Amino acid sequence: MKFFVDSADPAEIQAALALGLADGVTTNPTLIEKSGRDFQNTICAIADLVTGPVLAEAVSEDAAGIVREGREMSKWANNVVIKIPLSRAGLEAIRVLKNENIVTAATLIFSPGQALLAARAGASWICPFIGRLDDVGQDGMDLIRTISEMYANYPDINTEILVASVRMPRHVTESALAGADAVTVPFKVIEQLMAHPLTDLGIRRFLDDWKKFRKK
Ligand code: E4P
Repeated sequence: MKFFVDSADPAEIQAALALGLADGVTTNPTLIEKSGRDFQNTICAIADLVTGPVLAEAVSEDAAGIVREGREMSKWANNVVIKIPLSRAGLEAIRVLKNENIVTAATLIFSPGQALLAARAGASWICPFIGRLDDVGQDGMDLIRTISEMYANYPDINTEILVASVRMPRHVTESALAGADAVTVPFKVIEQLMAHPLTDLGIRRFLDDWKKFRKK
């Protein structure tokens, strides 16, 4: 399973790269705004850091506007992928951009039906948001299992499942169990994944014993 970094912060992306956990990067308008940096400069800087896909989100609400943004952003770097919210306009834009060989990711996916339509339209990636489903009392992981099973029935579907809105380590491990192609993970969750209190305790004890032994 591929690991993407869910961040617009170059320092976090560098840290994930050092761990071999930056197969790609996802951004969204909220993350870009939080970074306080210019959109195009931020995407270009990130696209320089990683070789994999860098998802940059279109913000127009009509198909023509999304297509215009997609064409423009695709010129910023050859690994920029156009992230498009799943709506009627979004589906139309994905079809147009696909015909121009511009790579897209359908985002804000909350149902199996949306995932099916995104694949039909030609999205290379879909981003189902599991944390936000958990937030409203549904089991986000159920959506990943259903999409995974559904896509597996059709070997000609090449759309990859990139699990988004990941909030905790369990989301990552269960995505792997469900057969997701990739997860996009905030750096905080990467840190949580590598930590275990028994590992810390074990290291402490081994080091203490090592020091005692060497004193003898
Ligand atoms: C990434 O593609 C998504 O925009 C991001 O994972 C959303 O996460 P959130 O639901 O925690 O805002």
